[in-house]
Order: sequence, then structure tokens, then C-alpha cells
Amino acid sequence: MKRKAQIHIDPHPIVSTENQDKKPKRQEFDEKLHARNALRDRPDFKELGTKYPEFGKFLSEKASGKLQLDWTNGEAVREYNITLLKHYYNITLTLPSDQLCPPVANRANYIHWIEDLIQIDPASRAGRGSVRGIDIGTGASCIYPLLGCKINHPNWSFLAVDNDAQSLYIAEQNLNLNRQWLSDQNQSSLIQLRHVTDGTTLDYLGQETYDFLMTNPPFFSDLEETQLNERVDATAKATEVVTQGGEVEFVGKIVENSMRTKGQVTWYTAMIGRKIDLTVLERKLRQCGVPHVKTSELSQGKTTRWAIAWSFTVPPPVRIVRPRRNFQIQHKILNSEVHQKIQNHLASHNILTRTDEEGRIAGQIELEAVITDFIITITQSREDQTLVAFYFSPEGNGTAFIDELESLFPKPPSRKERRAEARARENK
Ligand SMILES: C[S@@+](CC[C@H](N)C(=O)[O-])C[C@H]1O[C@@H](n2cnc3c(N)ncnc32)[C@H](O)[C@@H]1O
Repeated sequence: MKRKAQIHIDPHPIVSTENQDKKPKRQEFDEKLHARNALRDRPDFKELGTKYPEFGKFLSEKASGKLQLDWTNGEAVREYNITLLKHYYNITLTLPSDQLCPPVANRANYIHWIEDLIQIDPASRAGRGSVRGIDIGTGASCIYPLLGCKINHPNWSFLAVDNDAQSLYIAEQNLNLNRQWLSDQNQSSLIQLRHVTDGTTLDYLGQETYDFLMTNPPFFSDLEETQLNERVDATAKATEVVTQGGEVEFVGKIVENSMRTKGQVTWYTAMIGRKIDLTVLERKLRQCGVPHVKTSELSQGKTTRWAIAWSFTVPPPVRIVRPRRNFQIQHKILNSEVHQKIQNHLASHNILTRTDEEGRIAGQIELEAVITDFIITITQSREDQTLVAFYFSPEGNGTAFIDELESLFPKPPSRKERRAEARARENK
């Protein structure tokens, strides 16, 4: 007989229920959460139980005197997350017992990752204080728009879409509960809800532009996969967790449609439930020739989710290669934007350059009182990385010059960081 799925279980494991004394002492903060996540310092059950009696009634005392929550009880987990939203974010939420209850720490992690992403592009609206995002499949909780707008109040606003009218009806009630802080100066809401037949089409973007798009799609391709045979003890509706083709098809359609809408959204992103699906989607993006792809892990306690982001407008990271002995190597110029930026910089320092027959930047510079020839090659070594190489003749010491050019571009991860990332991936 199949076990029924406990789809709500995505808990923030505060207290384990067995063998507590034999386990090493738990840290007082969850280091896996994003550094800005308000739930990084582990919530205090005693404080929450006293302040919020509705939550307190789900707590029981262990022999050791510590308070514990039964993580297998969907109602208790729901009340816990509703309490966290109230206590840490002053967001009021109600949810019927058959609707997906979002694990707050994980949802906040995704919001903070998007905050980091939109800072990468200096041209984004983030620098001007106003950021607009789309949430596909916002659900009854409307959790991402509520958290995003609250954490970044009053700068963020959202278009929140879903294909489930009932969920949107409840989402609207939740927005009403938070109306006071959600209204902008013109008394219109920072969050607009919209019913769509299929959010993955992106047809509803019209001519508007957005800083980011986010989605936490239904993970599974059928009910069998979720083992969700009845709704009796499940805490999610089938439409919230199942979609034809699972998350790969859902996000895959967004990838395909983003090829049409391209720069209308600066960052397209999605949360992914299975590592294998992340790999498939990464490959799809590379096959489509998307220039900038980023991935991340969104961990909360023992639960890991992944996130993927792609952009057609934010330039890929630039890595500077130190000069080699000579400048005989020939490359094609593939990244005209980087080429232009370097040429502009040199021109602003009155350094005359020419583009040689190979398309490389060539010129002369005074380095430590010696007139030195230099050549700069710019190559797209990988789809997500541009290499800039400097070749000096004879052995001019161009360290300061290179440092200056390096500062024109965002710093790429070091070799050590890249190795650590690769190791982390292998260990999964
Ligand atoms: C896993 S739930 C996510 C709910 C909420 N965003 C969260 O993270 O807790 C997926 C949501 O996607 C919606 N959905 C499913 N297929 C969709 C589609 N084709 N277009 C728009 N929304 C869809 C479902 O109704 C559901 O609300």
C-alpha cells in the first residue's frame, strides 16, 4: 500500500523529538538560510507560544522541559508558519486547511536571492528604488508578493497570476487583511492579482517591463507521483502540486516563451524541487543560447530546493586573465559590449588604441616610465563567461593598469570558490 504524501512537510526543524540528549547541541541559528533571512536566529517556541495562543496550543513539553511541535501534524505546521509571518513580518494570513501552507523561511530565502540578483545589473530599476516583479502561480497565500513587498516596502510591487480562481479568491482576502500597509501613496495596492489560463505563456506581459519573474511551480507530473490519493489528510490541493509534465515542462515553457519576451523581464527565475530537474533546465537554457544563467540552493533545515535564473540583458561575468609571456594568441571578439566598455575606458584616459586585423584591441601605454605595446583579447570562453586577456610587450609590469580595468567589471568567483561550488554540487 502506498503511503500518503505529506506535502506540507517542508519544516524548519527547530526541535527533534527523539534522542535529543545524544545529538550534538544545535546551533542557535540556521546557517543554511540566507544571511538576511529574519528566521536565521531560530524562533523561540516559548515566546511564540505565549504571545500567540493559537500556536501555543500545538506545543507540548518534553521530559527535558523543552517545548516541541509535532511536525507530522499539518494543522500545527500551518499555524506555525502563520505565526512566523505575523511575528517576524507583521503579515496577516488565513488559509483553508486544504490549501498549501508555505514554509516561510524557504519563501523568504527565494525573495532574498532575487534581491541579490537584481543588484547585479547596475542598470536595473533597483538603483532607482522601484522594482516590479511577476509571481506565476501565486497561490491562495500570495506569499511571495506579500513577503517581497513587506521586506522591501515600499519599493517593490507585483503582478501575481494564477490559473486557479478559488486560490485567487482567497489571495484577495489575504491582501485585504494587509491592505493598510499594502496601499501606495495613490491608495492602489502594491500587488495586483490576475487570473490567467496559463501563466507560462507570458502573453499577459503586454508591453510592460519587469525586473524579475518568479515561480514556484507544481513539482509533480501526476497524482501517483505525489502519492496524493485523497485530500483528507493532505494539506495541499492537487492543482497546487501537480502539473502536466511536472516542473520541467512548466519552467521549460517559460524558458521557451522568454525567448520571445527576452528583455521585457531582466531576470527570469524559478524554484525547483528536484536537483535532476535543475540540470535538465540548465541544459535547456544553454541549448537556447541564453547568455547568462545562474543557479543557487535554497536550503531550510533538512529541506533543499534549487533556484535557477536567466537573463538576456544582464551581461555575463567577466574574468580577467593575467598577461602571458607574449601576445601571439589569436581570438575572435564575441562580446562587443565588453569590447566597447574597455575601449571607452582607455579613450577616457587618452590611451589611443586601434582594432588590429584579428579584431583585437592594440595600443601603447606608459608603464613605469616605459612605453609598452599591449594587446587585449576578449573571448567568450563559455556561454556564461567572457575572458579578457592582456598581453604586454616586452615584459611591462601592468599590474596597476590591469587592476584598474578589472574594477570595471563585477568580480567573478575565485578558483577556490568555484571549486567549493563544484564540490558542493558533487556531494549532493
Ligand atoms: C506549488 S503552488 C505555489 C503557491 C505559492 N506560490 C507558494 O510558493 O507557496 C503552485 C501554484 O501554481 C498555480 N498554477 C498551476 N499551474 C498554473 C499555470 N499553468 N498558470 C498559472 N498558475 C498555475 C497553482 O494553482 C498553484 O497556486
